[in-house]
Amino acid sequence: MDALKELAEVFGPRFTTSDSVLRQNSRNESHFPEAAPDAVIWPETTEDVVRVVKACAAGGIPVTAIGVGSSLEGQHLPVKGGVSLDFSRMNKVLQVNAEDLNAVVQPGVTRTQLNDELRATGLMFPVDPGADASLGGMAATRASGTTAVRYGTMRENVLALEAVMADGTVIRTGSKARKSSSGYDLTHLLVGSEGTLGIITELTVKLQGVPEAMAAATCRFETVEDAVNCVILVIQTGLPMARIELVDEMMVRGFNLHADAGLPEKPHLFLDFHGTPEGVNEQVGMFREIAADFGAEAWAEAKTTEARNALWKMRHNGHYATAAIAPGKRTLATDVCVPISRLAEAVTTAQTLSREMGITCTIVGHVGDGNFHCGVRFDPEDAEDLARTHAFAGRLNELALALGGTVSGEHGIGLGKQKYMAAEHGPALGYMRAIKAALDPQGILNPGKLLPPGN
Ligand code: LAC
Ligand code: ZN
Repeated sequence: MDALKELAEVFGPRFTTSDSVLRQNSRNESHFPEAAPDAVIWPETTEDVVRVVKACAAGGIPVTAIGVGSSLEGQHLPVKGGVSLDFSRMNKVLQVNAEDLNAVVQPGVTRTQLNDELRATGLMFPVDPGADASLGGMAATRASGTTAVRYGTMRENVLALEAVMADGTVIRTGSKARKSSSGYDLTHLLVGSEGTLGIITELTVKLQGVPEAMAAATCRFETVEDAVNCVILVIQTGLPMARIELVDEMMVRGFNLHADAGLPEKPHLFLDFHGTPEGVNEQVGMFREIAADFGAEAWAEAKTTEARNALWKMRHNGHYATAAIAPGKRTLATDVCVPISRLAEAVTTAQTLSREMGITCTIVGHVGDGNFHCGVRFDPEDAEDLARTHAFAGRLNELALALGGTVSGEHGIGLGKQKYMAAEHGPALGYMRAIKAALDPQGILNPGKLLPPGN
């Protein structure tokens, strides 16, 4: 591969084929087999990315971007080899435009890094997927998480991008204006494209004022159905929840094992309220009134900042707490999202199905958005377990589509959900393929992801 030789010379110590680094880039948080690149390069500038993409385009070599590697559908795995572009050194906050409520960042900046750098400004970046993901990765996968019910997903929070396209051309999409009616929306074509259409090298993101008051609380229900019906009414009432997370019995067991939560193994809601002190009190009062009708009990407020942070830290470690219920296995996390009125049906069916099929899973999720995860623990080496797990995920995904929803509310398609693309998108999938062919005719950008094989 002449292109790799050329890149080795250009990048010197920022190019490596060392086994240990290749292996680091081949791992994932989920259940996918390891997939190593041929080389890892650490770009420091957009020009560096251009050089890599141009050389790879000339040599027909795959290029796959990696942020912190926390994606759950293997988006960063270089399944066809080639170059892994590790964005950890493009980690500068370039501008904080406080008066316009936006920031310009390099793609390797993580969400907690940005929030730390914003601390003195009274502003925050609100999207919170749990993992301390890179903003480039979050944009590329259209990430969301616990706060999307109030502040939206990356779709709502990215104003503009700089990206390197498959031939090495640098484009800028969007602007710093809050809205635009100008032309095709390439920003939001790239957001969620999982590195298959272009490589994000800079992002302009929206910021929010840090709320004057924030309060977290938990409460408990007799059944998952009661908890979810409470959520549905809360959302339909228009209560501006900042977080409203369902935690089922098994997830509570996980938190007890992993974080010593000491909670009874019953369904819970974990809640966050943001606003003025009076506003928060009013929201809490309204929430409790609704919740009482669904038999909520054991109301517990996290009164101090430490207690509030501890609650959300525990929730954010849900992936690891899920691992604790069946150590030594791997996790497949389903990610369906349905219209809010169909949520109770979706969650109760998931729970019933898992019991009927002998599936070991937690249920946790961003139920205010109609999005929840079954974290299935299974043994990828056990053919029967593997088949059962995929059958369960398949049934759930079919249900989500039948209810008017989607197979992925937040984790994306990556490697794991390609088989559902035709069912979800029908003839629109053909137009997605046409877009890919137009923007990346050689198929060098993150090949093997998002689009299923075939025509
Ligand atoms: C969560 C991840 C799995 O919600 O999306 O914990
Ligand atoms: Zn999630």
